[in-house]
Amino acid sequence: MRILAIESSCDETAAAVLDGPRRVLASVVSSQVRLHAPYGGVVPEIAARHHLEAIEPIVEEALRRAGVTLDAIDGIAVTHGPGLIGCLLVGVSTARALAMARHLPIVGVNHLAGHIASGWLETPDLPYPALALVVSGGHTALWKVSGPREYTQLAKTRDDAAGEAFDKVAKLLGLPYPGGPTIDRLAPQGDPHAVAFGEVKTKGALDFSFSGYKTAVRVHMAETGLQPLTREDEDPPQPMLDLVASFRHAVVRELIRRTRQVIAVERPRALVVAGGVAANALLRREALALADECGLALSIPPLRYCGDNAAMIGLAGLPALEAGENHLDDLDAAASLPLGGAEAQRTTLRHL
Ligand code: KG4
Ligand code: ZN
Repeated sequence: MRILAIESSCDETAAAVLDGPRRVLASVVSSQVRLHAPYGGVVPEIAARHHLEAIEPIVEEALRRAGVTLDAIDGIAVTHGPGLIGCLLVGVSTARALAMARHLPIVGVNHLAGHIASGWLETPDLPYPALALVVSGGHTALWKVSGPREYTQLAKTRDDAAGEAFDKVAKLLGLPYPGGPTIDRLAPQGDPHAVAFGEVKTKGALDFSFSGYKTAVRVHMAETGLQPLTREDEDPPQPMLDLVASFRHAVVRELIRRTRQVIAVERPRALVVAGGVAANALLRREALALADECGLALSIPPLRYCGDNAAMIGLAGLPALEAGENHLDDLDAAASLPLGGAEAQRTTLRHL
């Protein structure tokens, strides 16, 4: 089955063409990062307006790169939540219009199911059950993935997502947006043990929490007199490099510590690390070591599939299209959308 997939939930306009689960014919992503950088975060109205301008050319470009026309498409998958409502609506209405004009089946895909599925894009034979650590700007959670459409959330963040913590700390330090890639780039120049970030306690459960680290950075800056940078071309001083190295080290340590604890309870066969923060160099190294230690198959998508993209949405939507589903009549955008709806259970794992 050849499908067209569309993603527009946040600040990336993306389209992809897949030929079954094993072949991505094209994946095109137009990032708005530069538009939002002056504001230090995504501005929903600007994002929605840009999606509106970009969506048609991006879909056309994906078809062109795949070497097909709409005549060769058998179905459409589109992200319908969670995300920024004005942004989601652009993707959903474009996809619906195409589906209606072409009499094609269309399915709505949960953005998180997309990030999870990205683990299977380049390694389609990755075994189930897998444990997926989804770490992005909006979400940080551990999911048990028992099959292509079977998800159970085992742990989540109580406050900030890991990517959000990177972005907020970078903002405190006057470092360019988005903070995750900036901190990741600067961290090797600092001492990861220079500033102590304690282990996070989340009252018995194996959940994550990152807002305390943001406060710790603020307190450290006040105590040491470290000032945020005021110009983009300014070189960070050594104490700032030490602070970002220590912060990155602590965030990755927490992600790995919780993942190791959940592996011990769930005994999965594979580990997936996905979402924008999966681009982090230290997290990628540590996940490799963890999978090795636990004897698990590992999939960390290549960088182009870590951040938001439509190939992952296509792969996540494929089983529903192959099963003959068509959501045209009730497909709508939803800013908050629990993964799997009622069928996805949340199990809170306790410390052993
Ligand atoms: O998955 P994504 O593109 O969008 C969401 O669904 O949120 O993730 C974006 C997040 C941002 O917070 C960004 O700072 C973070 O991923 N990020 C990183 C790195 N690259 C992107 N965080 C840490 N290290 C990186 N190398
Ligand atoms: Zn995302």
